[in-house]
Amino acid sequence: MSYWLDAVNIHSLQSPFVYEVYKNVIDKRKRVSADPQIEKIREKFKSSLNVIEVNDLGSGSSIEKSEYRKVTDIASYGVTEKKYSQIMLGLIQYMNFKNVIELGTSLGINTLYLSKPDQTQVTTFEGSTSLVNIATELLNDQRKNVQVVEGNIDTSLPKFLETSPPIDLAFLDANHSYNPTLKYFDLLLGKSHDETCFIFDDIHLSREMNEAWKHIRGHYQVTLTLDLFQIGMVFINPEIRKRHYVLET
Ligand SMILES: C[S@@+](CC[C@H](N)C(=O)[O-])C[C@H]1O[C@@H](n2cnc3c(N)ncnc32)[C@H](O)[C@@H]1O
Repeated sequence: MSYWLDAVNIHSLQSPFVYEVYKNVIDKRKRVSADPQIEKIREKFKSSLNVIEVNDLGSGSSIEKSEYRKVTDIASYGVTEKKYSQIMLGLIQYMNFKNVIELGTSLGINTLYLSKPDQTQVTTFEGSTSLVNIATELLNDQRKNVQVVEGNIDTSLPKFLETSPPIDLAFLDANHSYNPTLKYFDLLLGKSHDETCFIFDDIHLSREMNEAWKHIRGHYQVTLTLDLFQIGMVFINPEIRKRHYVLET
């Protein structure tokens, strides 16, 4: 059975909020355009011949693994697809979000989208030193409203949240496994407000991530979830009627 048989048609969206978000942010006919300058940078990374040493703290590993990876492979398979970056940028603009968190910076391409509106202050977290160096150089060159936090998110996120203002948007795209996903969600909830949106990447990547997504949907504070297959959007506004939608992008 096709996954999209579950997807609802825009006309059957009963919540006015979801209807507006779909119409203004997600629907490909109205979605914000890709940024040509950022896409040029993506293409440059894709054609890079460089190989870097990445110490990967993700995928549930408690032991640091180091390996050599081609920058072209990271840019081709390891970063957020253009259309989801466009959706996140559209949501920031539509909701007038200011304080944005990204867990997992990688090369910083998606960070460029998140920080495109001058009003945003983006904090992005990365554990691999070589990626921090590449992203910092790129972001320092292009943006004034981004801070890159180096280190394992297990420790850097709680430390950051001790003094951070409330979070408007959190994009969780680092460690795609059950326990860290729920732990980071819990920590971020402590700095959320009624309009905060959480976006989880790779919600159907594995059995573990499917389980994590199921847990998040059932969380007592969660009122609305939008499953776009690759990413899941989560809202906690108590004024929204509790609903879960699968939407086509
Ligand atoms: C999928 S990539 C992020 C892609 C980026 N958000 C984008 O949209 O292009 C995940 C990144 O998270 C980093 N990461 C994974 N687990 C981490 C951890 N526990 N602490 C810090 N960084 C971590 C990895 O090094 C990797 O660069």
